[in-house]
Amino acid sequence: MRLLVVGANGLLGSNVVHVGQQHGWSVMGTYHSTRPEFEIPLTQFDLVEYDTFDGVLETHAPDLVVNCAAMTDVDGCETNPERANVLNRDAPGAMAAQCAARDVEFVHVSTDYVFDGTARDPYGEKELPNPIQVYGDSKQAGERAVQEADGDHLTARLSFVWGVHRSSGELTGFPAWVNDQLGSGDPVPLFTDQWVTPTRAGQAATTLLDLVDADVTGLYHVACRSCVTPYAFGEVLADQHGADTALLKEGSTDDVDRDATRPTYSCLDVDAVESQLGRPQPTLTEDVEEIWDAVR
Ligand SMILES: NC(=O)c1ccc[n+]([C@@H]2O[C@H](COP(=O)([O-])OP(=O)(O)OC[C@H]3O[C@@H](n4cnc5c(N)ncnc54)[C@H](OP(=O)(O)O)[C@@H]3O)[C@@H](O)[C@H]2O)c1
Repeated sequence: MRLLVVGANGLLGSNVVHVGQQHGWSVMGTYHSTRPEFEIPLTQFDLVEYDTFDGVLETHAPDLVVNCAAMTDVDGCETNPERANVLNRDAPGAMAAQCAARDVEFVHVSTDYVFDGTARDPYGEKELPNPIQVYGDSKQAGERAVQEADGDHLTARLSFVWGVHRSSGELTGFPAWVNDQLGSGDPVPLFTDQWVTPTRAGQAATTLLDLVDADVTGLYHVACRSCVTPYAFGEVLADQHGADTALLKEGSTDDVDRDATRPTYSCLDVDAVESQLGRPQPTLTEDVEEIWDAVR
């Protein structure tokens, strides 16, 4: 398999490169502002220039493209909706169409933020999206654009992504910050009024490539099985650390002033991916244990 990872220097993208290499596939990538350390063929590519993506396909001749690039700054999307729509809506639709024209498989990545957060049970794939901020709106439009492009594509929605960046080797995202705070003995204020299904990037990358291996297309939720608050995530980390849980302080999303509204509840139901692959998704504790040496 010849795999091209768009956004190879992102957290998820670096993990898709890593897992593709573990599969023994021929892996190539694109990057935007920073060239990753991987020793693989790399091309600089800006999503804004999505019309030129066919030239990237011509250069690398992949069988499979996994699009991990996006405008992921939720507040930045709120203040620059035009750019959010170009990167998160127009680019994936155009790339899916260009892949279909060359008979290249296309995998797209979306988000739990397509939901409004009014549910209190994990969202399944059949639930109607109703984004409440520009980021989620642009990502939902991207899902639709990919779906409407020629060809059968796979789209995976993730939630609260964290993990080890496979080019830098560094723990990235929420637990990196919690670990730093715990390590320095500083109090860690954590929300108790937001619920997510944290998605370890390495686990998501493995699941995506397993779905490809199984010739699966359509829409799937890919996350861990645990629907938790950031506070509860902090407790799992403190437990692994053997750290004093008294350092964890209950906080509220109302305490922070941000440009974009976040859904209070965006846990994803993973039944469909579990039955498709015939195995359970990990719990949050299992995910943390899996990479504890890097997390420590
Ligand atoms: N992070 C989360 O909590 C979360 C939750 C749910 C879903 N997702 C989705 O998961 C996917 C991967 O996200 P991630 O967590 O890996 O985010 P990330 O680490 O921020 O990676 C995003 C990548 O997109 C690239 N990018 C940004 N603007 C670009 C442009 N104009 N042209 C080309 N590339 C550009 C970035 O490159 P530069 O840095 O060089 O610009 C970066 O490599 C995204 O589709 C995101 O919407 C993320």
